Amino acid sequence: MIGAMSVHTAHKRLLAPDITAMKGQGCIVALTAYHAHTAAIADRYCDFLLVGDSLGMVMHGFETTVPVPLDLMIMHGRAVVRGAKRALVVVDMPFGSYEESPPVAFRNAARVMKETDCGAVKIEGGRRMAETIRYLVERGIPVMSHIGLTPQSVNVIGGFKAQGRRHEQWAAIEEDARQVADAGAFAVVLEAVTEPLAQRITSAVSIPTIGIGASRSCDGQILVMEDMLGLSPRVPRFVKKFGKVGEVIEGAIRAYAEDVRAGAFPTPEHTYSMKEEVMKGGAGKGAKARAAARTGSGARSRSRSKAGKATKKPKNISS
Ligand code: KIV
Repeated sequence: MIGAMSVHTAHKRLLAPDITAMKGQGCIVALTAYHAHTAAIADRYCDFLLVGDSLGMVMHGFETTVPVPLDLMIMHGRAVVRGAKRALVVVDMPFGSYEESPPVAFRNAARVMKETDCGAVKIEGGRRMAETIRYLVERGIPVMSHIGLTPQSVNVIGGFKAQGRRHEQWAAIEEDARQVADAGAFAVVLEAVTEPLAQRITSAVSIPTIGIGASRSCDGQILVMEDMLGLSPRVPRFVKKFGKVGEVIEGAIRAYAEDVRAGAFPTPEHTYSMKEEVMKGGAGKGAKARAAARTGSGARSRSRSKAGKATKKPKNISS
């Protein structure tokens, strides 16, 4: 099938191997995305977009990512794929959808790939997930790994805590990185690990390390979009707020509420006027006929109603 192309392929999307090839070529830029419109904006600046299961906390108000269901990931994954044109879209496998066995992971990951059209999935866990990563990659599913702080294990770890702050923790985390790379992961997220450890892992493995709270020694960076935009009320210390979107939203909503209460919105500018022929109501058949002749609507609507099968077209609400 070499050379077969979809008629829809007007643009080239980055694929998992393109991200792997970026190791050592400059910094890989990534953000989380959960909706089509923010994905469309981030797509212009990012190499990949992650539909992170953090959406459970950011968008749906869960305290952790543990309750996030697979269907929710698929729904947001679809929206992001529709919004993005160029960036690779990676969808997180939520807690409980992949840990049981490689075949269960394959079944669920294949569903995510088929139903969202994303380019890869991400799973949390190092050595313990190596066999699953190999199983998925051998069957055509690109996998991004996620080690260090793995939020789905928060109930075992005992909180969202930085990892590798003591030397004796280093060997295990480094071994996680080596094993997921050997198993075929195309990149690995390092979350909340100290800089010397991130540096060590980045030089030790052949796949890109994507840091979140893991210093600039990684091959790439990712943040939760709502955190860096300044929309999330509380953020981890590793987040830099690049915007004040929360304040902008609040200011706009306050102004809207004030205008509505003061009768200053809506004004005629935001209000539909009547169609001309109705405005001239009582002007008789002549005005109606002239209006119908201009739009050609009279004859069409009469013939449709005669046939009794008129399918109503949606009206343009902007007019
Ligand atoms: O779910 C998520 O947003 C993530 C990122 C923090 C890497 O896994």
